Amino acid sequence: MARRPMVAGNWKLNKTIPEALALVTELKNALASVRDVDIVVAPPFTALWAVHERLVGTNIGLSAQEIFFEDAGAFTGKVSGPMVKDAGCAYAIVGHSERRQHFHETIETSNKRVRAALKAGLMPILCVGETLDDRQKNNTTKVVAEQLDGGIAGLSLDDLKRTIIAYEPVWAIGTGHVATPKQAQEVHGMIRDRLRSRDTAMADAMRILYGGSVKPDNAHDLNEEPDIDGSLVGGASLKAADFIAIVRATRGTH
Ligand code: PGA
Repeated sequence: MARRPMVAGNWKLNKTIPEALALVTELKNALASVRDVDIVVAPPFTALWAVHERLVGTNIGLSAQEIFFEDAGAFTGKVSGPMVKDAGCAYAIVGHSERRQHFHETIETSNKRVRAALKAGLMPILCVGETLDDRQKNNTTKVVAEQLDGGIAGLSLDDLKRTIIAYEPVWAIGTGHVATPKQAQEVHGMIRDRLRSRDTAMADAMRILYGGSVKPDNAHDLNEEPDIDGSLVGGASLKAADFIAIVRATRGTH
């Protein structure tokens, strides 16, 4: 079945408010006529509201890079699902490998965040992916399956329909070593098969993005694969020309 591809830009720890506004202004002008790809940007928390105001009425959606799983309370430094929803977000990235690596995020806390996002009316973008060591030891399927099963544990079919998965092999993130389309498709196919064992229609409708060194020159070939439904872009989302080219390269692939 035809799935609408998505291209999401994860800006990570980059961009002041003026820089963020300059970038999204270029994106919205260049991409205004795109109707067949969901375009999303994930600026840092500090720029969310300003970017939201700039994007009202456009075809570009807003995502948080992370949310805490509690809605409110004595949790110094944290930001919750209802708060980012209030700041204009429709999506929240959950369980990015940098969160796992630097901030002790686990499968269990990612699952809590997925549920918190859904409860707040956000669409979670749940990241899964193996390390180089996992891949070299032939543990890719096992590791990704555990992250997937744990990340979506307890979700209803309706919840799953509003959830997006991003397969991001850790060895490909920020390294320039993109997975080949075949390598990525193998894992995407495995993820969709696993989702199918729960419900075929839901699995066929769910988007599975690829992330890890996506650039203008590899986006098209990756998205030609049957189970790759767009990309989660880090480094290349910081330059308007590159992100625009990735969105354009994704058009017509599904
Ligand atoms: P990259 O990052 O495109 O810079 O490899 C991807 C990501 O971390 O989502």
